[in-house]
Amino acid sequence: MPEKIYFTTPIYYVNAEPHLGHTYTTVVADTLARFHRSMGRDVFFLTGTDEHGDKIAQTAEETGVEPKQYADRISGIFRSTWETCGISNDHFIRTTDDYHIAFVREVLQRVYEQGDIYFGEYGGKYCTGCERFYADRELVDGKCPDHETEPVWIKEENYFFRMGNYQEQLLRHIHENPGFITPSGYKNEVLGLLREPLEDLCISRPKSRLSWGIELPFDDSYVCYVWFDALLNYLSGLSHVKGAERDAYWRHAHHLIAKDIVKPHAVFWPTILLAAGFPLYKSLHVHGYWNMGESKMSKSLGNVIRPLEMRERFGLDGFRYFLLRDMAFGMDSSFTEDAFIARFNADLSNGLGNLVSRVLSMQHKYFDGELQPVAGELEGLDRELCQAFTTAETKAKEHLAVLAFHLALEEIWRAIAACDKYVVETAPFKLWKQEEQRARGGEILHVLGDALRHTARLIEPLMPETAVRISELLGSDPGKLSAPTPEWGKSFAPGHRVSKPAPLFPRIEIES
Ligand code: MSP
Repeated sequence: MPEKIYFTTPIYYVNAEPHLGHTYTTVVADTLARFHRSMGRDVFFLTGTDEHGDKIAQTAEETGVEPKQYADRISGIFRSTWETCGISNDHFIRTTDDYHIAFVREVLQRVYEQGDIYFGEYGGKYCTGCERFYADRELVDGKCPDHETEPVWIKEENYFFRMGNYQEQLLRHIHENPGFITPSGYKNEVLGLLREPLEDLCISRPKSRLSWGIELPFDDSYVCYVWFDALLNYLSGLSHVKGAERDAYWRHAHHLIAKDIVKPHAVFWPTILLAAGFPLYKSLHVHGYWNMGESKMSKSLGNVIRPLEMRERFGLDGFRYFLLRDMAFGMDSSFTEDAFIARFNADLSNGLGNLVSRVLSMQHKYFDGELQPVAGELEGLDRELCQAFTTAETKAKEHLAVLAFHLALEEIWRAIAACDKYVVETAPFKLWKQEEQRARGGEILHVLGDALRHTARLIEPLMPETAVRISELLGSDPGKLSAPTPEWGKSFAPGHRVSKPAPLFPRIEIES
C-alpha cells in the first residue's frame, strides 16, 4: 500500500479574488502534492473557500447581494482559477457545503456535552479583518498589526471553548515533536504565545448581530465563530474518503499557511482537535509574506497581482518559477515587475528555453529531427553530464522534502547550465561538418535529448506545463514523466524523431 500524505492550503475568504498571496500557498501545496505523487505516495490535496462570518456578511451587504449568492460567485472564481492554472487538488471544499456544516455541528455538540463549551459574558477588542479578539499586548499603537485598524469593542453573552484545558498537552506535543511547526522561528513564536495562560475562546456570535454562519446545535439563537467552523474543514474535507483511508491521510496531514494565521492554526486548531478527541495534524508549515516592492500587498493600494493575468501575459510556469525561486519558504519576499522580468529572461528565456531550442534546432539541422544511436559506452564528458543530473536529482529531492523550493530549482538549473557547458565543450556544431565525426555529433545530441528528458522529469512538480511541453517536443509520452528512466544513451528507440523547436519562454522586452 503506498504511503498516504495529505496537504492543505488555507481556505480563502471570499471577500477578495485570488491574488499573488493565495496563489503562492496554492502553488506550494500543488508542488508538494505533485512531488510526493511522483515519489509513489498516495496524496490527498485539499483547498477551498471560507464563506461565513462578519467579514463576508459585510462585504456582501456592501455589494448589495445575499451572502450566499455573493459567496457562490467568488468561490466559483477561486475554483475556476485553480482549474485554469492546472492546480491538482483532489477536492475543493466550501464551508457552506452541507457535509461540512453537519460535521461542524457534530463536533460542537460533542465538545459541548463533555463540558468544554460554556455560556458566559465577555467584552473584548475585535478585529473584523482577522475575525478575532485581540489582547492589548498584541496590538501595535492600539491597532491590529495586520490590518492597521483599531479593533472595535464588543461585549456580549456568548459561548466559550475552554482552550486553556489543553494548553499543557499542546505544549508537551510541541516539545516532543520538533516538526510540528516549521520553520522553527514560527514554533518559537507559538511557544511565546503559550507562555501566558490561554484565555477561553469565544466560539459563538448572537444571531441578532450576525446570522451568516452555522447555527449552534445546542442554541439556535447563536451561530458558530467563523474560525471554529473554518478550521474543521481540514477534517470535513476528507468526508468523501473511506474511514481507514481517511485516518491514514489525517495522520500525515501537512497544513500550509502564511504567518498571518499562525495563532488560529497552532493554538486554536490543535486545542479543538484535542477537545474533540482527534489526533493532531502532523505539521504546520508557515511561509512569509509577499510584499509589493516595499509596501504590503493590499486590495486598496491597487497593487494586486492576479494569477490569470500573469498566466495570460507570461504563461503560468514563468509565474510559478518566480514564486518558487524568489521566496525562501518561511521568509518574506518582495514582488517587483523588474525582478520578475530579470529572472524570467535570465533563467527561463536564456536558460532552459534557449537550451531546448538549441538542441532541437541542431537535431533538425544535422539529422532531420531523427535521434542517432549511441554506439558503445558513453564518453567522459557524457558521463560527467549524466552525473550532473544524478546529483541535481538527489539534491532537489532533499530540498523539496523540506520545502526549500528555491534550492531545488537552483540545483536543477545547475544541471541545465552543465548542458550548456557540455554543448560548448563537445561542439556538435563543428563535428557535424566532418564526415568521420558526424556519428559522434549524433551521439552528443542523443545525450542532450536524455538530459532534456531528465530536466522535464525534475521540473514536473514545480513547472508541470513546461515538463509536458518538453516531453512533447522530444516526442516522448508526458504521461510517463515519473516512470523510472532508462539508461542514458539507450532511452530513445531507433528512428525516434523530435519536434521542431517552439519557443518555451519568449523573452520579455521591456518597453522604455
Ligand atoms: N479564511 C482564512 C483561513 C482559514 S483556514 C482554516 C484566511 N483567508 S485569507 O483569504 O485571508 O487567506 C490567508 C492566506 O492567504 C495566507 O495565510 C496565505 O496563505 C495567503 N496569503 C494572502 N496574502 C499573502 C501574502 N501577501 N503573501 C503570502 N501569502 C499570503 O485567512
